[in-house]
Amino acid sequence: MLFYLILFLIAIVLIVYKYLYSNKSYDLKAKHVLITGGTKGIGYSVAVLAIESGANVSIIARNAEDLETTKMALLKKCSSNELKQKVLTFSLDVTSDYYDIEKTVTEAEAVCGPINALFCCAGTAVSLRFEETPIDEFKRMVDINYLGTVNVIKACLPSMKSTGKGGNIVLFSSIAGVFGLYGYSAYSPSKFAIVGLAQCLAMELKTYNISVCVSYPPDTDTPGFEHEQITKPIETKLISDAGGLYSPDIVAKHTMIDAMSGKFHSTVGFESWMIRTLCCGMSPITSTLDAVLQVLSMGLFRIVGLIFLRKCDSIIKKCSQEKQLNKKSQ
Ligand SMILES: *[C@@H]1O[C@H](CO)[C@@H](O)[C@H](O)[C@H]1NC(C)=O
Ligand SMILES: *[C@@H]1O[C@H](CO)[C@@H](O)[C@H](O)[C@H]1NC(C)=O
Ligand SMILES: *[C@@H]1O[C@H](CO)[C@@H](O)[C@H](O)[C@H]1NC(C)=O
Repeated sequence: MLFYLILFLIAIVLIVYKYLYSNKSYDLKAKHVLITGGTKGIGYSVAVLAIESGANVSIIARNAEDLETTKMALLKKCSSNELKQKVLTFSLDVTSDYYDIEKTVTEAEAVCGPINALFCCAGTAVSLRFEETPIDEFKRMVDINYLGTVNVIKACLPSMKSTGKGGNIVLFSSIAGVFGLYGYSAYSPSKFAIVGLAQCLAMELKTYNISVCVSYPPDTDTPGFEHEQITKPIETKLISDAGGLYSPDIVAKHTMIDAMSGKFHSTVGFESWMIRTLCCGMSPITSTLDAVLQVLSMGLFRIVGLIFLRKCDSIIKKCSQEKQLNKKSQ
C-alpha cells in the first residue's frame, strides 16, 4: 500500500516537473542583474543564463583576474548586438565594510540603472567534525554565507523598491540548510540563517512586488565542493554520496526558472524536493500545487525521512567500529 502510494507520488511529481521545466522561459531583456560570486560555480552559470537572456550583468567577486576572464567569456555570449548589453565587474569581498558594498552597488546602478534581479551566490563551505573545526571557521561561515548576503541585499533594496516595478532577490541556502548533517556544524547553521532571512524578507517585500526565492542546491560540482572534499569526514561522504553530484548549470537553470516565476523554494532533483517539502514548516507558499503536495505528502515523507536517519546512524556506527578496530590493530 505504502509502496504504491510512494510510486504514485513520484509519478505525479515527475509529471509536474516535466510540465514545469520542459518549456518554462524567463525574460531578462533590459534588466539589470547583479550576481555575487559570479566568476565560479553556480554564480557563473547564473551569469551565463542572464547574459544569454539579454540582461545587463554586474558581477561582484574577489579575484580581479577571474573577473576579467569572466567578463570576456560573458561578452562573447551576448544574445545580440542590438541590446548593447554590458558586463560590469567589481572586485570586492562581500564581507567588506558595508559602506564599500553600498558604494559598489551605487556605481553599478549609475551605469545600468537599479538592480532588477539580485543573485547572492557568494558562499563557502567547510566539512569537518565539530571538535576538529577551528573556532575561526564558525565565524567565517557566518560572515561570508550569512552576513555577506545581508550586506548585498541591504545595499540593493532601496533602489529596487524605488522603481515600483518589483524585482527578484535570490538567496542560496543548501540542502544542509534545512537539516543538520554529520560534519557540517560550521556550514549548516550559516545556511539555516539564510532560510530565516529569506522568510522574513518574503513577508516584508511582498507588497512591493519583490519576490524572494531560496535555492537549496544539493552537492554541486563546483570549485567550492572540491575544496570541501579535502577535509570531509568519511561519514559525511558516505551519507551524502547517495544524493549524487549535480552540475552548476542545472542548479542555475532550476533556480532561474523558479525565481523568475515567483516561487519561494527552488530545489533540484527528487530527493532535495522531498527533503525541502518535509521541512517546509511555516515557510511562505507561492503555488497552490506546492501547498497541496505538502499537505498530502508530509506523513509519508516523514516515514522516508526516518528510514534515511536510521541509515545515517548505521553508517556512523559502522565507521566508529572500524576506527576502533584500526586502533586496536595498530
Ligand atoms: C516550447 O518552446 C519552444 C522554443 O522555446 C517553442 O517553439 C514551443 O512553441 C514551446 N512549446 C510550448 C508547448 O509552449
Ligand atoms: C544596458 O545598460 C545600458 C546603459 O548603460 C543601456 O543603454 C542598455 O540598453 C542596457 N541593455 C540592456 C540589454 O539592458
Ligand atoms: C508585479 O509584478 C508583476 C510582474 O513582475 C506585474 O505583472 C504586476 O503588475 C506587478 N504588480 C504591481 C502592483 O506592481
